[in-house]
Amino acid sequence: MRKARIAVLVSGGGTNLQALIDAQRRGELPHGELALVVSNNAGAYALERAARTGIETAVCLRAKGESRADFEAKIQRVLATRDIDMLVLAGFMAILSADFVARWPERIINIHPSLIPSFCGEGFYGLRVHEAALAYGVKVTGATVHYVNEIPDGGRIIAQKAVEVREGDTPEILQRRVMEEAEWVLLPRAAELVSERIAAGKA
Ligand code: GAR
Repeated sequence: MRKARIAVLVSGGGTNLQALIDAQRRGELPHGELALVVSNNAGAYALERAARTGIETAVCLRAKGESRADFEAKIQRVLATRDIDMLVLAGFMAILSADFVARWPERIINIHPSLIPSFCGEGFYGLRVHEAALAYGVKVTGATVHYVNEIPDGGRIIAQKAVEVREGDTPEILQRRVMEEAEWVLLPRAAELVSERIAAGKA
């Protein structure tokens, strides 16, 4: 069987990347292989996680004044030369253009730290999502893995998991609980699901 070659796009700490690495180690990603990590931030700790696991890394920066098209062309080149089949956005803090995502139909998945359609779309990322959930006063939040299309956080949902909001939660405490109970569980499972479909097509 030819495994689906996965590129993980990151911008920061990379705990979701770590969850994917750990799942692969445990044999829970049998149809996929973590082939490349691409960061739009040279200082992302996720790059160290990849390097110490022996996964190839690439840094694609958007220079000041550079167009989104030129920035995305750099990413496309890296992906094409590594023969990548699917992309996992794991804390990737840039919105990909409609042109970019049209080239990867149902081949890009994203993890978002809320129950979509709540607290999502442009401007809702990282800690801000949890700040908004606490400000609204919801009692349940969670995480969502979805396909990426031209609408930010608007693609078809693959999996969701609810997480309780507790009295006294700060955005940081809630973020950590959502990661532990939902994100790190959902993302590897979804990556395997999509990998399996792609691997079947490659067979
Ligand atoms: C995660 O909580 C992820 O769901 C969120 O950023 C964090 C990245 O953490 N992504 C978004 O908000 C995307 N809209 P990580 O770098 O430790 O995986």
